[in-house]
Amino acid sequence: MEFSVLSLPGDGIGVEVAGEAIRVLNHVCRKFNHKANITEGLLGGIAIHTTGGPFPAETERLCLEADATLMGAVGLPEFDNWPPEKRPERGLLGIRKTMGVYANLRPVRSYPALLDSSPLKNHLVDGVDMIIVRELTGGIYYGTPRGITGEGAASRGTNTMTYSWAEIDRVTRMSFELARNRRRKVTSVDKSNVLETSQLWRRVAVEVAKDYPDVELNHLLVDNCAMQLVLNPKQFDIVVMENMFGDILSDEGAVLAGSIGMLPSASIGARKPNGFWVGLYEPVHGSAPDIAGQNKANPLGAIGSVAAMLEYSFGLKEEAAAVNSAVEAVLNSGQVTADLRPKGTPATTTQVGEAVCEAIG
Ligand code: IPM
Ligand code: MG
Repeated sequence: MEFSVLSLPGDGIGVEVAGEAIRVLNHVCRKFNHKANITEGLLGGIAIHTTGGPFPAETERLCLEADATLMGAVGLPEFDNWPPEKRPERGLLGIRKTMGVYANLRPVRSYPALLDSSPLKNHLVDGVDMIIVRELTGGIYYGTPRGITGEGAASRGTNTMTYSWAEIDRVTRMSFELARNRRRKVTSVDKSNVLETSQLWRRVAVEVAKDYPDVELNHLLVDNCAMQLVLNPKQFDIVVMENMFGDILSDEGAVLAGSIGMLPSASIGARKPNGFWVGLYEPVHGSAPDIAGQNKANPLGAIGSVAAMLEYSFGLKEEAAAVNSAVEAVLNSGQVTADLRPKGTPATTTQVGEAVCEAIG
């Protein structure tokens, strides 16, 4: 198979982890006789420095053209005091919206080799295997009106959380589809005891569930879900929620995996005329400026995102499985970065990437 991939390394450790992810992608392609045509583009802080804006028109064109897009991370401390509409993060929101990737899949699983890396007791974490499905192109991240009006003590900040039936329908439907290939259980998370958007969310989830009588649906309030994630995380299979709830709870989920550096993500949109799904793949972690440029960052979240790309955008399940088993083999070998607290000297970002390639064979 021949396909095109846009690489957007972004800022900070994004550059290092994306480099290893691309190394693994090229390696898999060589091994399984595929041809990946890789182009590189600008997003985030580096794009602001180079072009004046976080999501340049050229990147917009490239991401719409490519068969799939792989991202590192965005965000630089020098923009910390800039208004939201000018910051590197806005580039990320822009590309998600432009690509229409409304369903963000964030798998959280425990690896036997990493049980001791989680601060939670082993028996709670052992066997965790869930996918957090985060709505990604709506809700409070995008709602209007928004902004800060007035001056000084009289100023006021406003954001709007709004969802249409159709926006909820498509992401909950995707969740039920995913559940069918797993343990057939969907937990829909909301705050319907307070928010109207959540009341609608729950109503739509109940309607969609009627089309999936073979899948069990239950509802959980978001505050209770935050607690259940650490009390009894094994109860979850597919957990679906709106954009901001998903942002928050997926970081909590990272604790179960041992390190946020482990978490991959796949953001999926419409099906293209050529049969591929529109997909944006990125590790869940941020740009971690404190360790950037030191060859210390864990590339496994980015490498797992390549596996997700192979599976969801190109239907290459065997190739995806090869990457995932290689990741597991590397974890078992103990050749891991400092965030996973290895017994010996921590491996570098590059060493982990090379070890994954070697394990693929
Ligand atoms: C994430 C990140 C982003 C988000 C930031 C960097 C804008 O935290 O992907 O979880 O909030 O969506
Ligand atoms: Mg986040």
